[in-house]
Amino acid sequence: MDSSGGTAEPTAYTLPEPGYRADLTEVEKGTPMGELLRRYWHPVGLSEDAIGTPKKVRLLGEDLILFRDGQGRPGLVYPRCCHRGTTLYYGKVEETGIRCCYHGWLFDIEGHCLDMPVEPNKGEGYRDRVRQPWYPVEERYGLIFAYMGPPERKPLLPRFNLLEELDEGEMLDTDDTGLGTGGLGIAPCNWLQHFENVMDPFHVAILHAAFSGTQFVPEMAIMPEVSFARYEYGMRSQQVRKLEDGRTLYRRTEALLPTLRVVPSPVLQPGRCASIGWTVPIDSTHYKLLTVARVTEKGELCKHRSKMNGKYWWDLTEEEHQKFPGDWEAQVGQGEISYHSEEHLAKSDEGIRMLRKFYEEQLKVIVEGGDPVGTAFEPGTEWIGSDAGNFFE
Ligand code: FES
Ligand SMILES: [Fe+2]
Repeated sequence: MDSSGGTAEPTAYTLPEPGYRADLTEVEKGTPMGELLRRYWHPVGLSEDAIGTPKKVRLLGEDLILFRDGQGRPGLVYPRCCHRGTTLYYGKVEETGIRCCYHGWLFDIEGHCLDMPVEPNKGEGYRDRVRQPWYPVEERYGLIFAYMGPPERKPLLPRFNLLEELDEGEMLDTDDTGLGTGGLGIAPCNWLQHFENVMDPFHVAILHAAFSGTQFVPEMAIMPEVSFARYEYGMRSQQVRKLEDGRTLYRRTEALLPTLRVVPSPVLQPGRCASIGWTVPIDSTHYKLLTVARVTEKGELCKHRSKMNGKYWWDLTEEEHQKFPGDWEAQVGQGEISYHSEEHLAKSDEGIRMLRKFYEEQLKVIVEGGDPVGTAFEPGTEWIGSDAGNFFE
């Protein structure tokens, strides 16, 4: 029997009410991060997701309808028809736009009403007084990008050297099935849990090697010497590993605003990074990864999917998930939105600290009326370069 008379060791009973950093995690309209993220373009889907049948999509906590009109132009509209509110999910896509099923109002990709079949004169004189809420979209690299922020602050859609300077025989490939997140497409946790992982190179030698066995290649089991640096668009990390064959591996990783991961091949394909991944917040408790990569063969991107215990993630039994956890288990395991109040950041979390600070500064920039980093408005200035890659010396 404990007779410590009020001086007992603390237990879980003494744990205070948990809390999380809402300012850094929540993405809905009007929240600090939601407004920061809305100052950038985000991919809402792959090019092939925009077709002649309306598709439900969700981005930054907003439900929207994606379609492609008969002229090949992608459109992204608010689902509730501005007439009397039925959903355009049941609409029909035509040459010039999407027609609501209920009374047939027709809207183009910018929400202009082109036809009101049950109004006198097809709504002539009234049509231009209504507008279906819409968002601008642009198509590039096989993705459909949307801008959901204040219209007067819309930056240019960025261009990436990594995706435009192709070596001989290379082409671009896309993936939305969540490479590195189990391959289920949508992960049921906050986007920041995944994004912070990009600046957490220490977990590689533990989670992906010592704990779960080789999930990438044996060299990744070597605990690297790590340095972090801020740069114009976000953060960089360099991981140096002395290899058994006498060579040194310099692995460089970048995390850019808004949510871009430039992570070189974990199976150590040498040279500059071949892919850029967008950590797309669907809402505050779900995200998906959209990746574009330079490949030499279509479908190659999927081959880089890591295996646990020799199996793909979705084939693992519950027991194997426990024995051979990967990024999905570690990040979804932090909960829907990780309780930051219960964290104890250590030395190895320097990258996490710096990344959060970077975001905090950008939150301040927009509150003070400025434009956040990496938003370009002058044509020619929207190019983003990269140092990421696996370099052997
Ligand atoms: S509700 Fe859409 S046309 Fe009437
Ligand atoms: Fe990982």
